[in-house]
Amino acid sequence: MAQDTELKFTHSDFRRVRDMIYQRVGISLNESKTHMAYARLAKRVRSSGLRSFADYLDMLEGDQQTAEWQSFINALTTNLTSFFRESHHFDILREHACMQKKPGEIFRVWSSASSTGEEPYSIAITLLDVWREMSGGSFELVASDIDTNVLNHAALGVYNQERVEKVSPQLLRRYFDKGAGTNAGKVRLKKTVRDALIFFQFNLIAPNWPDIGQFDVIFCRNVLIYFDKSTQSEILAKMAKCLKPNGLLLLGHSENIVHLTDAYVACGRTAYKLAHPELQE
Ligand SMILES: C[S@@+](CC[C@H](N)C(=O)[O-])C[C@H]1O[C@@H](n2cnc3c(N)ncnc32)[C@H](O)[C@@H]1O
Repeated sequence: MAQDTELKFTHSDFRRVRDMIYQRVGISLNESKTHMAYARLAKRVRSSGLRSFADYLDMLEGDQQTAEWQSFINALTTNLTSFFRESHHFDILREHACMQKKPGEIFRVWSSASSTGEEPYSIAITLLDVWREMSGGSFELVASDIDTNVLNHAALGVYNQERVEKVSPQLLRRYFDKGAGTNAGKVRLKKTVRDALIFFQFNLIAPNWPDIGQFDVIFCRNVLIYFDKSTQSEILAKMAKCLKPNGLLLLGHSENIVHLTDAYVACGRTAYKLAHPELQE
């Protein structure tokens, strides 16, 4: 069991962490994540002024409303992402937007595990470019995550230069400002791109989803992998209700839903549409 000179992390501590994060957020941690859990939570234990994991976990369980719960969740999420990750989805988005764009209709997209913002900003850039080429139209882009740290980072829209190395020079010029002085080495999305997005905190395993309307495209990429199969099925069923009849669901490269739901049919590389669009309310 992972240990250092200051904090003991027992099997029982790990099992408590595993159960608590599963109940709050749906993330399934197996024993191979013991070291990761220790490394990420030890800082939280220390900064709470407590002497042991057991005390820290007791404190959380004893106060369901404490703000420390959010820090616990933020510490255990994995936020790996990048601009135009799995780039084929942005080609699909572009094509779908061109096909579905109708006068007077708002093209709506939801990035449902938006992490530090690279995914929803890549969506915004793609749509702004389509709209520029096709002169006008409107879209609404919403982005959510459970982790408040990444949502705050995303809303700022500031990134280190290395994060945009793979973005084309043309898009960089068009949609990013280069930092100067104390911001040298950084870039920021231009205000038009930042203003195109609405960020909000949303837990995909919440039993009742708020009415967020229906979308032309939902990005749900590289988040289902953290959940068990029953949680994945529930989320997929709820997402189906959030799609317009012609809507698309885009998943991450290793997320296979074939045996989980019959609500969708594949229509491209990790792209799905509704199996029964005629039943959509
Ligand atoms: C690996 S990132 C994926 C980011 C982006 N979608 C991509 O593919 O590049 C997974 C994100 O899912 C979020 N997440 C984990 N559990 C969640 C939940 N129950 N509800 C909403 N977001 C969750 C994490 O905070 C994290 O930012």
